[in-house]
Amino acid sequence: MAKVKFFSGKSLPLEMHKVRIVQKLFLPPVEERARLMNEAGNNTFLLQNRDIFMDMLTDSGVNAMSDLQQAAMLRADDSYAGSETFNRMSAKVREIFPGFPYFLPVHQGRAAENILASAYVKPGDVVPMNFHFTTTKAHITRMGGRVEELIIKEGLEPVNDCPFKGNFDIPRLEALIQEVGPEHIPFVRIEAGTNLVGGQPLSLENMRAVSALCKQYGLRLVLDASLLQDNLYFIKQREAACKEMTIREITAEIASLMDIIYFSARKLGFARGGGIAIREKAEELHMKEFIPLYEGFLTYGGMSVREMEAITVGLDESMDEDIISQGPQFIAYMAEELHKRGVPVILPAGGLGCHLNATEILPHVPHEQYPAGALAAALYIAGGVRGMERGTLSEQRNEDGSERFAELELLRLAMPRRVYTLSQVEYAIDRVEWLYKNRHLVGGLKFVDEPKVLRFFFGRLEPIGDWQEKLVAKFREDFGDSL
Ligand code: F0G
Repeated sequence: MAKVKFFSGKSLPLEMHKVRIVQKLFLPPVEERARLMNEAGNNTFLLQNRDIFMDMLTDSGVNAMSDLQQAAMLRADDSYAGSETFNRMSAKVREIFPGFPYFLPVHQGRAAENILASAYVKPGDVVPMNFHFTTTKAHITRMGGRVEELIIKEGLEPVNDCPFKGNFDIPRLEALIQEVGPEHIPFVRIEAGTNLVGGQPLSLENMRAVSALCKQYGLRLVLDASLLQDNLYFIKQREAACKEMTIREITAEIASLMDIIYFSARKLGFARGGGIAIREKAEELHMKEFIPLYEGFLTYGGMSVREMEAITVGLDESMDEDIISQGPQFIAYMAEELHKRGVPVILPAGGLGCHLNATEILPHVPHEQYPAGALAAALYIAGGVRGMERGTLSEQRNEDGSERFAELELLRLAMPRRVYTLSQVEYAIDRVEWLYKNRHLVGGLKFVDEPKVLRFFFGRLEPIGDWQEKLVAKFREDFGDSL
């Protein structure tokens, strides 16, 4: 992908695949979009897929499969126990993560988190990590543990030129280990890439430093590899010492630093499922008993055999630079085009999606009126584009009921892999730019129904004032009878 140059000198990401199955899309008129957004409680999770033109909610379980994945699904060996399909999947995990002889299947990433937390976290424990993910934190706190985030300070700055914003702050990690004592740290967790700060990567060098500290203090090191494919691409592109390494070699080197690797195969592997790769027999024995309890028998873990076959091929494809470069290159294109148009985005672009900085786009919307949530509702009205709030709405209130304000108020526009074409991405850029020009019209949101746990999934909100009517009127004025 990166090796093809345009004669015109244009710098465009070029797809190294062709599309052979398509799905028709619909774009409801703007008045309808405003009505539908309100029917969905101004929460993009509650929209119906049929009403969405570009679904940029997530890259989880919605990536396009390859012909080879589809073909592999046909030869799935369906049996409750001991299927060849499972043997093929576990062999592939062992192949890409050398030194991990044991593999436990789970139905998705958070199931692995449930098992890890159930097996290792005790009340009062502390789990250091570069940054939390919503479900990770929920499982650790459910077991009475606490999460400590130790990302470098550059990671929380919306714009700078740091190539690895997901890196651990190593001195802070060592200080924390000394402060709480290694006996209260069941494991250290690396999230590569780092979802909630914009899909930002860690360097291999940083992972080596975390691993060295863990060895020094006798700590278990766990990798959340759900977003690893983007991180691998960034290491290859941005880390001088890794320029000559293949993606497989970088993966093997990362694996050599870890004790446990878990992943959501809704992301890594372009399918749906997950797993836990384990280095030591004793650890496998410790976690194994939870699999039949929560997931299913040890040779399917809640996954369908068809999905397992697709994951096996998908993991292989994740080792192919042509394939894994598509997402980050589309994301970089979108982020850089928006930046050129003056729209505040997270830079450098990370993996997963293009992240709009709602704090800067809507400075007039107070933090407690959820600027990132308001921006998500406004963008659906502006263009039928569904993003995901990644800010205060995605946090849980403090024990005393006060808001826990997020460090970054982001609207994430995820880029499902191999799904949208560049002209569709251009459309999304166009609508974001229009919204940015009319940002003064956008107001805040307030809860009308607020669940206590994971409120961003089911909570319902309403606009404060009549800003949505004004936005629709301005759309009509600018676009005439266009959808
Ligand atoms: N870890 C990371 C880094 C993730 O991004 C996710 C999911 C999980 C764990 C949980 O995996 O969904 O298979 O249970 N992220 C999705 C997203 C939900 O949209 O970013 P899961």
